[in-house]
Amino acid sequence: MSSAVEHRCDVLIIGSGAAGLTLALKLADQMNVIVLSKSTLSEGSTRYAQGGIAAVFDEDDSIESHVKDTLLAGAGLCDEDAVRFTTSQAKECMQWLINFGVPFDQEKDTQGNTRYHLTREGGHSHRRILHAADATGQAVQTTLQEAVQQHPNIHLFERYNAIDLIRHEEVDNQALGAYVWNRKAEHVEVIRAKFTTLATGGASKVYQYTSNPDVSSGDGIAMAWRAGCSVANMEFNQFHPTCLFHPEAKNFLITEALRGEGAFLCHADGTPFMHKFDERGDLAPRDIVARAIDYEMKRLGADCMYLDISHKPADFVVKHFPNIYRKCRSLGIDITRQPIPVVPAAHYSCGGVKTDFDGKTDLDNLYAIGEVAYTGLHGANRMASNSLLECVVFAHAAAKHILKKVTKPAFTQTIPAWDESQVGNSDEEVVIQHNWHELRLFMWDYVGIVRTTKRLERALRRIDVLQHEIHDYYANFRVSNNLLELRNLVTVAELIVRCAMQRKESRGLHYILDYPDAEENPSVTVLSGRG
Ligand code: FAD
Ligand code: SIN
Repeated sequence: MSSAVEHRCDVLIIGSGAAGLTLALKLADQMNVIVLSKSTLSEGSTRYAQGGIAAVFDEDDSIESHVKDTLLAGAGLCDEDAVRFTTSQAKECMQWLINFGVPFDQEKDTQGNTRYHLTREGGHSHRRILHAADATGQAVQTTLQEAVQQHPNIHLFERYNAIDLIRHEEVDNQALGAYVWNRKAEHVEVIRAKFTTLATGGASKVYQYTSNPDVSSGDGIAMAWRAGCSVANMEFNQFHPTCLFHPEAKNFLITEALRGEGAFLCHADGTPFMHKFDERGDLAPRDIVARAIDYEMKRLGADCMYLDISHKPADFVVKHFPNIYRKCRSLGIDITRQPIPVVPAAHYSCGGVKTDFDGKTDLDNLYAIGEVAYTGLHGANRMASNSLLECVVFAHAAAKHILKKVTKPAFTQTIPAWDESQVGNSDEEVVIQHNWHELRLFMWDYVGIVRTTKRLERALRRIDVLQHEIHDYYANFRVSNNLLELRNLVTVAELIVRCAMQRKESRGLHYILDYPDAEENPSVTVLSGRG
């Protein structure tokens, strides 16, 4: 059976988080847009973002300072031009969100004037985080979603998985759209597009413990790689230091803004420890804090460490962190009176599909924006709240570039049909389930916060075996969400390990016992899509 259903649009956007929806809104007055979401429209990392978005709003702050802090957190591996490009557009892009109605928290200054309340997070030397209490992502996602739902030129395809990009058969560096899996109808369809954008988010689901929702399975990175795009810096997966440790809490983050407002990390007996690891103490960049927690847990044989904000007035805590207060309270933890049990968890993919400052990838007509992309902004460690910023800034940049190319040729190329004639229904779902668990467990154990060459080699051998099994499975059975995600996760795992093996030093989020020191002249790890 071949793919009978075909859709056409000017721009196909794969992903409905902050990056995808911003791009859709920037283009839709002039172009016809399809936005794809493999779950519901709102399900992605954006919705769960807590802390906020970094931008210089305070008159004592400066773009230069935002640049300096980002470069420092990035541990010598940021592209300074990318950092300047992003930070200098932050205020304008935040104003764009504000104009759409994102309800960032406000306060009165000493003269009684209203201004935005700015919070602090690790690595930032100023208060510069715009936020909507402790549920900033929810506010951004809801606002953008309401706007796209009302736009007549934006067509929303929920529960559609992009499977693979379609490349021009003769002019092979051109993207023509994507094969997509309609999950409700359970068949493959074709979406032809003049421009295609990956806005699929990150890949932290490749690790057993993660702050991310299930959709973060690195699909965009894997699809781009299979289509011949380069990827970069995949070894730098960020571990957030403080996820709630509780058997009934899945992926619940405790925002770094708690530490920005005075919370401190401690042992079970209340002894603080961050001052032993870094002079910035609890507000050191994330790589340092996550490693310190990991070190203390292993040293003491403890299941978790603790984060304490109970010394602050209860009404202050409840007002600033209502979401976290409620969630913890529902699990029997009163954060105004007792410390919160926390552990590190995979949080953010600093590497991804390599793009330029227009969001353009190696393929003509193919863009990548948001967490799926590597733009050079984050270097070896992303600074808190620079991610949503990158989503919005690069969506704006990509929109500008696409709008300049509006006259692109129409749909003349032949697209090979999706061939399902040789495949059957799986009778062994257990194989997929088993491989999912196995992959995520050994990635956590062998390719986690602290690495060794031996563990990386071991991981690569396991990945090779899984790849063969998954390839056989993919060739013989009809696709399903679990199979598609597993196929992508195993590709992403391979890219992470291959990048990690190339880096013969410890830097930022990549800490390897065999090479504990940083090299003098570090370079970005690039895996070429044709290599
Ligand atoms: P996402 O919001 O993750 O959206 C991805 C979209 O792609 C989804 O719609 C998904 O369905 C779709 N998709 C994926 N694969 C496919 C496929 N194959 N086919 C179709 N659709 C697909 N950053 C900050 O700057 N500040 C914060 O305070 C902050 N807090 C965070 C808290 C948490 C708990 C988490 C998890 C992350 C946080 N981050 C924060 C990081 C930030 O939220 C993400 O990096 C950002 O939201 C990514 O946005 P995105 O648009 O790139 O992708
Ligand atoms: C947090 O609120 O701690 C997460 C912020 C981020 O990931 O940028």
